[in-house]
Amino acid sequence: MWFPLFVALVVAVYVYHQLKYLYLSRKWKTQPVKKFRSYFFGLDKFALMHKLSKKGYLSDYHKEEYDKYGETFEIGLLSKRILFTMSPENIKAMVSTQFDDFSIGVRKKAFGPLLGNGVFVSEGETWKHSRLMMKPQFAREQISHVQIVEPHIQVFAKHVRKYSGKLFDIQHLFHKLTFDAATEFLLGESVSSLQDESIGYDPKLMDMEEKGNFDESFTFLQRYVVLRASLLDFYWVANSKAFRHHVDVCHSFTRYFVDKALRLRPEEIEKKSEEGYTFLYELVKDNRDPVVLRDQILNLMLAGRSTTGSLLLSTFFELARNPPVWERLKDEIRQHFGTGETKEELALITFENLKRCTYLRWVLNEALRMYPPVAKNLREAIKDTTLPRGGGPDGESPVLIRKNSLVMFHIYSVQRLEKYYGKDAQIFRPERWELLSKIGWAFMPFSSGPRICLGQQFALTEASYITVRLAQMFANIETHDSTYPPRKSSNATMQYLDGVNISLW
Ligand code: HEM
Repeated sequence: MWFPLFVALVVAVYVYHQLKYLYLSRKWKTQPVKKFRSYFFGLDKFALMHKLSKKGYLSDYHKEEYDKYGETFEIGLLSKRILFTMSPENIKAMVSTQFDDFSIGVRKKAFGPLLGNGVFVSEGETWKHSRLMMKPQFAREQISHVQIVEPHIQVFAKHVRKYSGKLFDIQHLFHKLTFDAATEFLLGESVSSLQDESIGYDPKLMDMEEKGNFDESFTFLQRYVVLRASLLDFYWVANSKAFRHHVDVCHSFTRYFVDKALRLRPEEIEKKSEEGYTFLYELVKDNRDPVVLRDQILNLMLAGRSTTGSLLLSTFFELARNPPVWERLKDEIRQHFGTGETKEELALITFENLKRCTYLRWVLNEALRMYPPVAKNLREAIKDTTLPRGGGPDGESPVLIRKNSLVMFHIYSVQRLEKYYGKDAQIFRPERWELLSKIGWAFMPFSSGPRICLGQQFALTEASYITVRLAQMFANIETHDSTYPPRKSSNATMQYLDGVNISLW
């Protein structure tokens, strides 16, 4: 009795959806999108992507697929239908012109236990409020405090000198450098992860007592939350005891600094602001909720930590392979800032002066183009809607996007398209930027629209400063990597699976 009723209900729901699909397709003049053949609920595809990701060729594989199937196609994966796209028009629609039709999908649920309601993971009014609270802190004047990085570069240089011109992997050093600088900028105190015994620091003297295993926990969590996000609707399966433990470590570490800031009297905070810029102290002036403060700081750390490290890595990976680029860059740096050996010369390296270094900007742009730190991204439709490209045999017509369906977009593939960057699009050539000032939606390493990266200027200034100082300190660079294109992991931020092995002296 119940079974036929159940079957009838399922059929009725199916027919209703099909009819609605037909109705909306006619109304919005959409065309069917190319479907990518997959089996076992897409698990074959899922397994292949996992394998390629481990080998370091997932981003390159996606690019090849787009070359084969066109700029937009659909696959079924687990319980969802996912549209894959590299069409700049579609990306523009999702992040900008049709912003209200899409959400950030599983990110909130996957990252939530660590990041709460912070700006990177929230939506709607909570997100708007967060952005309003954080945006002024990234204003131009504040970023001009680039010299905060200098003491950390000095420690970094000790590590480089330790190798006396011999081969070393710069990857973990760059990540430590950006983490040390970020914690100082955000919390007012650095975790000083670069200061270790190998360069003569006594760890017992240097360790902040509160630091505990923060560094290790944060690194674990960065990977784990991405694993949760990649499981889509099944994100909750990844909820291990270790995950919960590391979340506790990071929360109490950040809370220690928040409580410390909240105990300060307003005049003490003012005094500290005059001495140097600390993000947390500026936030405390407007908001005194300890959980909100903790969440926002952790959101910035997660969004900004390995992205800036990744940009520096790609830059030095290519500089080491391209001696003429390295020489031209050094010339420009010498012209603008000298050798950096005197206090006066160091004081020249400001936000404004860094912006005047045209070739430096081209070099960073080219690294961001070829190796975007955020290589792919995801959105979920929150209502029935359309995207402008991907429908019909030529892929030029609009496509229907049903509520709850996912769209995965690949900035990596867009930024390597020959139709925008020419026949040598797969080659590192900073000079191309002389003619690319109006490239628009084919270049968006920091995304665009209302959710555009909050830390864009901060990251570019920090990466510029570090590049300038290293080029001043070390005249020679040489690559020891023979695999090209490099094996990359791009599940969260782009990293180099074999490291970036160079000598610098
Ligand atoms: C080269 C370095 C960086 C790159 C390539 C980068 C890239 C991005 C991208 C693509 C997004 C958009 C994500 C989305 O819409 O789904 C984003 C968002 C964000 N970024 Fe960055 N980022 C970098 C550095 C930083 C730094 C240093 C900070 C902070 C200190 C930061 C803070 C943020 C925040 C808070 C958001 C979320 C904005 C929102 O959702 O409203 N980023 N970033």
